[in-house]
Amino acid sequence: MNRTKSLLLCFLGIAIFINTAIAQQKTTAQKVDELLKKMTLAEKIGQLNQYNGDWEATGPITADVGSKLDAIRRGEVGSVLNIIGVAHTRKFQEAAMQSRLRIPLIFGQDVIHGYSVTFPIPLAEAASWDMEAIEKSARIAATEAAAGGVQWTFAPMVDIARDPRWGRVMEGAGEDPYLGSLIATARVHGFQGKGLGNLDAVMACAKHFAAYGAAIGGRDYNSVDMSLRNLWEFYLPPFKAAADAGAATFMNSFNDLNGVPASANRYLMRDILKGKWGFKGFVVSDWGSIGEMINHGYVKDNYEAAEAAINAGSDMDMESRSYIKNLAKLVADKKVSVATIDEAVRRILTKKFELGLFEDAYRFNNAEREKRMINTAAHIEAARDVARKSIVLLKNDKQLLPLSKDLGTIALIGPLAKSKKEMKGFWSLDVGDEKEIVSLYEGMELAAPKTKLLYAPGCDITDTSKAGFDEAYKAAMQADVVVMAMGERPDMTGEAKSRSNIHLPGVQEDLIKAVMASGKPVVVLLMSGRPMVFNYTADHVPAILYTWWLGNQAGNAMADVLYGNYNPGAKLPITFPRTEGQIPIYYNHLNTGRPAHGDNDVNYTSAYIDLPNSPKFAFGHGLSYSTFKYSNLKLSKKTMLKTEAITVSFDLQNSGKYAGEEVAQLYLRDMVSQPVRPVKELKGFQKVMLQPGETKTITFTIDKNKLSFYNEALEWITQPGEFKLMIGSASDDIRLEDSFLLN
Ligand code: NOJ
Repeated sequence: MNRTKSLLLCFLGIAIFINTAIAQQKTTAQKVDELLKKMTLAEKIGQLNQYNGDWEATGPITADVGSKLDAIRRGEVGSVLNIIGVAHTRKFQEAAMQSRLRIPLIFGQDVIHGYSVTFPIPLAEAASWDMEAIEKSARIAATEAAAGGVQWTFAPMVDIARDPRWGRVMEGAGEDPYLGSLIATARVHGFQGKGLGNLDAVMACAKHFAAYGAAIGGRDYNSVDMSLRNLWEFYLPPFKAAADAGAATFMNSFNDLNGVPASANRYLMRDILKGKWGFKGFVVSDWGSIGEMINHGYVKDNYEAAEAAINAGSDMDMESRSYIKNLAKLVADKKVSVATIDEAVRRILTKKFELGLFEDAYRFNNAEREKRMINTAAHIEAARDVARKSIVLLKNDKQLLPLSKDLGTIALIGPLAKSKKEMKGFWSLDVGDEKEIVSLYEGMELAAPKTKLLYAPGCDITDTSKAGFDEAYKAAMQADVVVMAMGERPDMTGEAKSRSNIHLPGVQEDLIKAVMASGKPVVVLLMSGRPMVFNYTADHVPAILYTWWLGNQAGNAMADVLYGNYNPGAKLPITFPRTEGQIPIYYNHLNTGRPAHGDNDVNYTSAYIDLPNSPKFAFGHGLSYSTFKYSNLKLSKKTMLKTEAITVSFDLQNSGKYAGEEVAQLYLRDMVSQPVRPVKELKGFQKVMLQPGETKTITFTIDKNKLSFYNEALEWITQPGEFKLMIGSASDDIRLEDSFLLN
């Protein structure tokens, strides 16, 4: 054989080898199918079963199942929630590796706003209107969680919420579907990073599907009764956004929707999510929600509950044990088909393959990485940045803020002034050390070391005693300025934390009144997971910051804002009512046939005779240390066809003394429409940084999509006619207006 010939043969050999290797590379779908063929029915059902671990519980424990590790060894468990840390999760994974087919477990956890480094609660982050910051916060949470052995977070919660009595408003992005959809996208992208399979990515879980936030009376777990148009228009968009962003999983909700519990809601799961939206991930029930359908009165026992849930599209049963106990019999009784079980198992196994768990079940169990990736300086710095971006300046009369760092004495008063772990808020994890959390007191000490801080708690959060008022008053009298840290306990918002009374609790407003009597300039910081009612404070205190629960860096972030190291630019993502009687109150309401014109118009109008219609603080409200001027509104045309777009431009100028950011908001109103449309809908916004005196030209594009809506037949349509365009600094602070025609 000459050289050329042997070279040719050699190339041919390599080509055949490469080709065979390519042919041997199986797709995930093929791998799933092969595994599925090896599985017994019992093993398949095991994959659909999720147990709580042996550590913490985030719901009522259903019944003792004996040793969970033994159940895992028998292949009866597909996923475990509520255990974290590489050592602890490894112990459970080792049990899975002793099961017949060695199918790895997925570890799920409520990583809602941070893992070790706690970020602001989601409602607070939503106030930043800063998608980059929100995505980064989720990214860091995912990085830390994945380093800690977790592959799945039960977040983002994308429930629209118009009722601040509902304790879970803290966990979402507020009341608006447009803002909520952008935030849902940002958070899914943040959690899933460059994609499942990367060691810093966790599966996102869009929850609670659907309409959980509309629980009647704001009482958690309560029924939801709403028109389908309302559902599609306001409650589904953030879920659609999460699905489009690639959310790996969805969780259904506790509530019934128009009489059908979400856990067995075929319309939601089969028709919309897996049908119309083409969702390829899997759906997990909420904790025990499949079994709870017995209490709903939808089914008579767990057997019927399992049948209803699996047939409707709930793939995994979290903690109700209905699947593990009943699916085999349901298959034998021909109530559930093997094909239905296979479909659910396939969805779950696909994610396990995508996570890389079949290549290495312990790839998230690296102790060195856990140590290295958690609580890094970069994560802490990011948490501080997001925290200050989340603080809303509600009021700042006579430019009381920012404070000078040269003040002689500040009286720091209030039950939350020195609090540390409280700063983490609800749904935070017990990871890390309390030492890592910065209190307001510590933050202020660090920011202005020359200023003497006089501390007096004044009262407790829910106190009825005024015994501490005198001490607080005396401290105020000795100070140049008073800073007050007031609010709820962190466990007054969150799951099962609905309140009928959302006033600033206890005697706190009385304390504020008592301190105001000192005549000293007073700044109040309000900490909470929901909009509260605080009318005395809102009407009399010159400067108010709403600081929610800001996480580990709370104290530094608050001090950054108080002293002007950071100029606040956050805007409320939810309406603040004057009192509970106005609830539900939201900016994007309909006009009615008898709208009130102004707050005192009660002459046969849709109004209360004892309360104005306007809220205390409107959606989109939030001040800055600077002021912003809006001018020079221009529309590229005044008439558009459905195939065209209008470009809207205007000048935004920083007319104040401080560099700062403004969130310029675009609202639209369809003037005549069938069915009728809201008085205002957010359709765009831009967060713009401006130096003092600087002007930037801002543009928005309005296309058909921004003008479309669901008609009574739930078709997404546009109707020709006049649209009003409003641009402003808040939903109740419109600075520029015009209108245009859609032909
Ligand atoms: C119940 C909550 O509704 C849900 O959001 C959470 O993810 C699960 N419990 C697991 O903790």
